[in-house]
Amino acid sequence: MNILGIETSCDETSAAIVQDGVHLLAQVTASQIDLHARFGGVVPEVASRRHVVDITKVVEQVFCDARMTWSDIDAIAVTCGPGLLGSLLVGVSAAKGYALATGKPIVGVHHIAGHVAAAMLAWAGGTGATPPFLCLVVSGGHTELLTVDSDFRFARLGGTRDDAAGEAYDKVARLLGLAYPGGPKVDDLAHRGRPDAYVFPRALLEDDGFDFSFSGLKSAVNNEIVKRRNRGQDVSVEDVCASFQAAVVEVLVEKTRRAALHTGARTIVVAGGVAANRGLREAMSKMAQALSARVIFPPIELCTDNAAMIAAAAYPRAKAGRWSPLTLNAYAQLPLADWQDDHWPGGHRLSPTCE
Ligand code: KG4
Ligand code: ZN
Repeated sequence: MNILGIETSCDETSAAIVQDGVHLLAQVTASQIDLHARFGGVVPEVASRRHVVDITKVVEQVFCDARMTWSDIDAIAVTCGPGLLGSLLVGVSAAKGYALATGKPIVGVHHIAGHVAAAMLAWAGGTGATPPFLCLVVSGGHTELLTVDSDFRFARLGGTRDDAAGEAYDKVARLLGLAYPGGPKVDDLAHRGRPDAYVFPRALLEDDGFDFSFSGLKSAVNNEIVKRRNRGQDVSVEDVCASFQAAVVEVLVEKTRRAALHTGARTIVVAGGVAANRGLREAMSKMAQALSARVIFPPIELCTDNAAMIAAAAYPRAKAGRWSPLTLNAYAQLPLADWQDDHWPGGHRLSPTCE
């Protein structure tokens, strides 16, 4: 089964063709990073307008790259939430337009389910993860600890109470005058600094639950920088990055370790943009080794937003014939539990005849 995936929930316009949920045949992604960098973050209206310009181009290109036509496609998968509403609407409208024109069925996909499914794709040198597994999703918009069962159903153990891990990276980068998106730059600088130069808080580490909090950490970094500058002291950007990263990584790894012990998981998946972080990869691998568990990170290019992960997440539904109606909408907020049970916001029902 070949699924065309479409992802436009934030600032990447992406299309991919995935075979049987695991084989990535082609992917084309138009990044908007340069467009938003001068504003220090994604400007929603600017993002949606660029998606409109790029969406048909990336879809046409992915067919060329895969040497395929619509007759080779069995279904269309599209991110329908959560994310920036205007951006999501571009992808959802395009998917519905293609579905109407070609008669292919569509599957609306939850963005976090997509990040998780990125780890299930096969890649050079890797076979991907097969559920059940424990999953930490760490991106610019989400920090969630989930269990994923063999039917690709999710149960939430915990998540952030305020900022997402990637958001904390981007905010700290901004405090340090680094360009958007700051995560990869902080990661690079952290490798040249001392992780024990500053002591930043490890929020909720004493707490038995699986929740996270990163907004206090960002404030602590800000206070330290202001205090030093007011005293006329130098601030080492490398040391701040290394100490900040040490605090984030310690909390993410320790909560994941406890969740693995709590659930007895033998496989741990780390997904989302922050899963590209080298410090996190090293520390998580060490922790998993100590537990004799397997840890799987998607390849770096599949950690950040992409359409392959959306096509992969749609596969279990497509196989079961659980299609979405042509009245499918875009949802800025969409609880994962509601999506997996087809409780669409606003009381929408899955079957077209019910709406
Ligand atoms: O998954 P993603 O592309 O978008 C969302 O769904 O949010 O994640 C983007 C986030 C940004 O906050 C970016 O700074 C962060 O992932 N990120 C990183 C790294 N690469 C991307 N954070 C830390 N270290 C990295 N190497
Ligand atoms: Zn994402």
